[in-house]
Amino acid sequence: MYNSSEEKKLFEEGKHFLSKPAVISSYSDLIKVLQYHEWRYAVKNDPVISDYEYDQLFDQLKAIEKENPDIIQQDSPTQRVASDLNPDFDPVTHLTPMLSLGNSYNAEDLQDFDKQIKKLTKNEDDVAYSIEPKYDGGSIALVYEDDRLIRAATRGNGVEGEEMTPNAKALPSIPLKAMFSKYGIHRAELRGEAIIPLKIFNRVNKERESKGHKIFANPRNAASGGLRMKDPNETRERGIEVFVFQMSYAVDKNEQDVLTNFKKHSEHLNLLADLGFKVPTSGRALVNDIEEVASFVIDYEGKRESLDYEIDGMVVKVDDLLVQEEIGYTQHHPRWAIAFKFKAKQATTTLLDVEYQIGKVGSITPVAKVEPVFLAGVTISSISLHNEEFIKSKDLRIGDKVLVERAGDVIPYIVKSLPDLRSGSETVIKFPKYCPRNHGEKSTLVQYEGEAAWRCPICQYGRDNLQKIIFHVSKDAMDIDGFGKSNVERFYEMGWIQDISDIYNLDYEKILELDGFGQKSVDKMRASIEKVKTNPNRRMLYGLSIHHLGKKASKLLAEKINHIYELKDWAPEDFTTIKDIGPVVAENVLKWFEFPGNLEMLERMESYGLDFTQKEEDKPLVISDDAPLAGKTILFTGTLVNLKRGEAKKIAEENGAKNISAVSKNLDILVVGEKAGSKLAKAEALGTVTIMTEAEFIDFLNL
Ligand code: IVH
Repeated sequence: MYNSSEEKKLFEEGKHFLSKPAVISSYSDLIKVLQYHEWRYAVKNDPVISDYEYDQLFDQLKAIEKENPDIIQQDSPTQRVASDLNPDFDPVTHLTPMLSLGNSYNAEDLQDFDKQIKKLTKNEDDVAYSIEPKYDGGSIALVYEDDRLIRAATRGNGVEGEEMTPNAKALPSIPLKAMFSKYGIHRAELRGEAIIPLKIFNRVNKERESKGHKIFANPRNAASGGLRMKDPNETRERGIEVFVFQMSYAVDKNEQDVLTNFKKHSEHLNLLADLGFKVPTSGRALVNDIEEVASFVIDYEGKRESLDYEIDGMVVKVDDLLVQEEIGYTQHHPRWAIAFKFKAKQATTTLLDVEYQIGKVGSITPVAKVEPVFLAGVTISSISLHNEEFIKSKDLRIGDKVLVERAGDVIPYIVKSLPDLRSGSETVIKFPKYCPRNHGEKSTLVQYEGEAAWRCPICQYGRDNLQKIIFHVSKDAMDIDGFGKSNVERFYEMGWIQDISDIYNLDYEKILELDGFGQKSVDKMRASIEKVKTNPNRRMLYGLSIHHLGKKASKLLAEKINHIYELKDWAPEDFTTIKDIGPVVAENVLKWFEFPGNLEMLERMESYGLDFTQKEEDKPLVISDDAPLAGKTILFTGTLVNLKRGEAKKIAEENGAKNISAVSKNLDILVVGEKAGSKLAKAEALGTVTIMTEAEFIDFLNL
């Protein structure tokens, strides 16, 4: 381990930050560099290079050692696994060491792996492989004895882990009791990975952001940190789920090894699923040879972005347990398994500049312009910096080297800057005091209590805001078919559209003269625009981009008014007596009507043919007590084939039902589509829920 002066020396020599492994020539230097990165990653929880860059260095070390086995040093990272032991937790010795995995990056590497296995087993027959996703979270080892969970630990240094049984017990995906005895197993050790589904991760981060807490850099850190909380409730609140993918130890009452009684790894997984563990399902396959492995894993990489959670590759395991036993382990990894690593999602780049975007309700979002960098299949050059606090907390400066990550639909995200690499020419980012757009010093930015964002009041309430216009035409708001962002941007730049009213007064003759337009497309545009002039008021209101006036509040207001203008004469109490509408909405709607020019804009829209009177669709649904689903709660799960999810929910509502989002004893009806999962199982277990297929639902309502 390095003390700080040695660390500094490494920095000065530039050996800590090597994306070009060829720079390191000496074996012992390479070891030092790798040790340094292991320490940054595992102990400090603060890596300065990406996993991919680390793997490249590690592979280079392995190659040197393979060529020169006599020089291998005892402290080489290949001779042990990295450590993440934390002194706050009690160390426990794993029943079998938790090793790493070797890596592969392409079909050729997989072929080499297969050849090696055939060589070791002296058998040329095709090898059957079990394939699973390589979950990107925190490793966990669970010990069961007499059918009860008796111990849970993190990986630690691979030999000893940190005991965190109370935290594991707080996680619903880990069974506290599992009937191993049914299979003659007295004690078992299981391996798994704690992950946080992306949706939950996003939600948790949003909540943290709104409370002004530091947001998590990525789901992996949040999950692996979540295992190490002092309070198990905090572990539970992170929404962690645990996939179990390996039974590494199993003995019977006489302490006899029964691990290989089951012959195949895939049988272990089936057994674990039967006992109630969450085992890999999507991305799991059993194939006959290495060619099938290659095509499966390459194909699955394409699905990576559509998964609910993060994976950084696939794990390929020899399915036959006797072969596994025969070929065994190196110090570092099993010889019978290999990780197929997907393209890197982290890289380092340079922060070149910061631009400021203005949102539809006036919030100013800083956006980093970075040296373009290729990450997991996409070139990134712009990254949101969220707000001023984010910049301050990360101490970002223009000119900084930054570690960038792209994960699922969450990011691109700046994980951190690398201040040790500063040359001194970097400049502090000064958040603007005035609106960076055309209002100049007239518009001092404001920050409302409890909000992280700075806002420009003119952009918040005023009309001349491009984002407001883009939102107005969008599917969510007025839904002007075929008239999207690019048209708005083009016409805005030409000065033809300055606020939303101009959309309804376009000069189609002039548009016809523009590049890219013909009579047909112009006619279509005109028809789409004409069509929305009689949209329900709830869409009109929502399309005004009034701060805090969301979709639901717009609908509630539209139910109560005969004409949009009525709202300007409402008293705040008129708003707040409506259930679910609070004083903030009242204040913002009233302020919007008072803001110079807004009412005139609505009047112009009326003169262009927009109808602001209440439409049939605005009127509240009157549901009679004898509606077929009156008073029932309903939930749709799985993939619906005939109906769209939103449509099905609306139909249910029109027939008297209330849509709810979770299976509980409050649920009356569960409608199951294809590939229904845990919700169906839970409803069946409750026994009180009426379960119907989509076809039965359609039949029931005579649709
Ligand atoms: S098997 C002895 N299978 O990857 C073999 N590992 O670099 C043990 N991981 O820390 C590993 N998904 O936590 C295996 N389906 C999977 C995995 C998986 C994620 C993690 C594991 C380990 C790391 C190995």
